[in-house]
Amino acid sequence: MNQLNVLGIETSCDETGVAIYSAERGLLAHQLYSQVELHAEYGGVVPELASRDHVRKLVPLIRATLEQAKMTGTDIQGIAYTAGPGLAGALLSGAAVARSLAWTWQVPAVEVHHMEGHLLAPMLEENPPEFPFVALLVSGGHTMLVKVEGIGRYRLLGESLDDAAGEAFDKTAKMLGLGYPGGPVLAERAQQGDPERFRFPRPMTDRPGLDFSFSGLKTYALTTMQKESVGLQGDRLETLKNDIARAFEDAVVDTLVIKCRRAVRESGVKTLVLAGGVAANQRLRDKMNRMMAEENGNAFYPRLDFCTDNGAMIAYAGWQRLKAGESIGLAFQARPRWSLMELQAP
Ligand code: KG4
Ligand code: ZN
Repeated sequence: MNQLNVLGIETSCDETGVAIYSAERGLLAHQLYSQVELHAEYGGVVPELASRDHVRKLVPLIRATLEQAKMTGTDIQGIAYTAGPGLAGALLSGAAVARSLAWTWQVPAVEVHHMEGHLLAPMLEENPPEFPFVALLVSGGHTMLVKVEGIGRYRLLGESLDDAAGEAFDKTAKMLGLGYPGGPVLAERAQQGDPERFRFPRPMTDRPGLDFSFSGLKTYALTTMQKESVGLQGDRLETLKNDIARAFEDAVVDTLVIKCRRAVRESGVKTLVLAGGVAANQRLRDKMNRMMAEENGNAFYPRLDFCTDNGAMIAYAGWQRLKAGESIGLAFQARPRWSLMELQAP
């Protein structure tokens, strides 16, 4: 199937993403509508509002993506959509549109695992990594270290026992009153922070193993804030927040780097892939690059836009499965909880 243009649809959380990936010509178009403003006043994602907004935005976004690729429905040979994991209502909104369109256009539809999408996102870049590689998946919902032998051939090396790395960023930012989503804003404040003022622990790094725990760091940030902020206001309060943000970010980044170094050494695999929203963090990218250079290996990342949720990674992962003949029947479902380890090679 050389002539294979795949429409990818992502609606698992608070971004509506649509893209077209072509077997022959690569990524042809991608469009994203972020719901950040919609949820900002509530300090986090409101699932019902997310579903309704996907319903509102998805069809116009598909139209815009087709237009950008100078295509119509007849140019599409397959549809890939995020079936899970994620918010049930948000997933169903995308699944319903994807499955209906596939029926209308009489093309196959395929379910994509959101984290497989993240994992394969670096493949969209000019210089893609080669199998096997170790992947650090760091998003708002997951923190996993995975050994990747090929598409659908994943072995879990370690994961977070409590909060995901992105979730810890979000909760800490909220606690500091910095707003939502927390990752980018906390990273920005950390830039202005003093790295010497506080030192937060590097959780679970003093014992063997590749699992993570981030919920204690959030509590550490909270108690530091409570203790140090007494009587402070104005600039001095903002400086304190910057310094806490810096200590928090350094602790998360160092912890991730320590565990990745360990995973690379234990597996003997010298290629590391970082993906998911937290992979957009510049300090993480810099330190990970340095570590991989010391290990005589290479680190790969998606471009910044494709670290966070997007339709391109779903179109690409779907293409990998569609070209191998995978597709679903007319019945569709959302899989809010779906382990990456359940996937099989196509
Ligand atoms: O992959 P993603 O868009 O959605 C999920 O699948 O969860 O990841 C979103 C997460 C959020 O927790 C957000 O705060 C975090 O990624 N994030 C960042 C940065 N940009 C996004 N965390 C740290 N530094 C960043 N620059
Ligand atoms: Zn994601």
